[in-house]
Amino acid sequence: MSAKLIKGTEVREEILEEITSEVAQIKERHGVVPGLVTILVGENPASMSYVTLKIKTAHRVGFKEIQDSQPADMTEGDLLNLIERYNNDDSINGILVQLPLPKHMNEKKILNAIDPDKDVDGFHPINVGRLMIGGDEVRFPPCTPAGIQELIVRSGVETSGAEVVVVGRSNIVGKPIANMMLQKGDGANSTVTVVHTRTKNMDQHCKRADILIVAAGVPGLVKPEWIKPGACVIDVGVNRVGEKISEKTGKKIAILKGDVDFEAAKEVAGCITPVPGGVGPMTITMLMKNTLKSLKFKLGIA
Ligand code: GUN
Repeated sequence: MSAKLIKGTEVREEILEEITSEVAQIKERHGVVPGLVTILVGENPASMSYVTLKIKTAHRVGFKEIQDSQPADMTEGDLLNLIERYNNDDSINGILVQLPLPKHMNEKKILNAIDPDKDVDGFHPINVGRLMIGGDEVRFPPCTPAGIQELIVRSGVETSGAEVVVVGRSNIVGKPIANMMLQKGDGANSTVTVVHTRTKNMDQHCKRADILIVAAGVPGLVKPEWIKPGACVIDVGVNRVGEKISEKTGKKIAILKGDVDFEAAKEVAGCITPVPGGVGPMTITMLMKNTLKSLKFKLGIA
C-alpha cells in the first residue's frame, strides 16, 4: 500500500486564496488592511530567508508589510522601545520578532513585551494560557501547530475520538499541538498521548496512534514498524543532513530529512506529509491567518 500524500504546498495555496479574498472584502467594507511587521536583529542567513518569505507572502495576500532589519549589536533597550512603537501603531496588527535573537538579549523579556493582541506568533504567556483554556478564549494558535491541525482537517481525517500520539514536548510544537487536539471542538476531541526522550517503549505508544505527529528533531526516528497500518502521519522534522546543488537555480541548497523514515513509512501509513513540502509551507500561511484574525478582532468581526 502507498499512503496518500498530504501536500502542504497545495493546502497553502488554498488558504492563501481564502485570505486574499477576505482581505479584499475587509478593505472594501472597512477601508483597512492587516498590517504585519517582522523585526530581524542581525544577519543570520536562515532567519533572513524566513523573514523575506514572510514579507513576500504578506504582500501577496494584500497586507501592509514592514520588514524592520536592525543591526546585531542593537541594545535590548532599543529593541524594547521599537516593540513599544509598533504596539502603539494602529496600522500594525501583527508583530513578529524573528528568533533566535543575538546572545546579549533575553528572549523571554523581548517576547513578553509584544502586545498579546498583536502576538501573531502566539508565544506570549497570555496567548499560551488562552490556548490552554480553549474555545472562545483562543486568540493566536502558534503557527506550526495551527498548520498541522489544518492539514489533518483538510485531509478529511477524523479527529474526534482518535488516538493522537505526539512525539516531542517543545513549547513551539509538541505541547501546543497536544493541547489543541484534546480540546472540545471541530478538528480536535482526540485522546492525546505525548511521548518524549524519557518515555519508555516509545514505539509501542506510536503504534497505537490513529494520528501520529512527530516533532522530535531526530532524522528518521520513526520506523515503519512504529506505525499502525492506515494511520495519518504528520512529520514536523526539518533536519539538514547535507547540501546539494539545486536543479532549478544552480545554487547550493540544504538536503532536508524528516523525523520519519518516509520511504518505508509511506508503505504502511494511510496518509503522510513529505519533507519538504508538508508541514513547512503551512507555518507562514498560518502567520497570515493570525494577522488577519488580529485585525478582525480589532474591527469586532472575528
Ligand atoms: N524562528 C524560527 N521559526 C520561528 C517562528 O515561527 N517565529 C519566530 N518569531 N521566529 C522563528
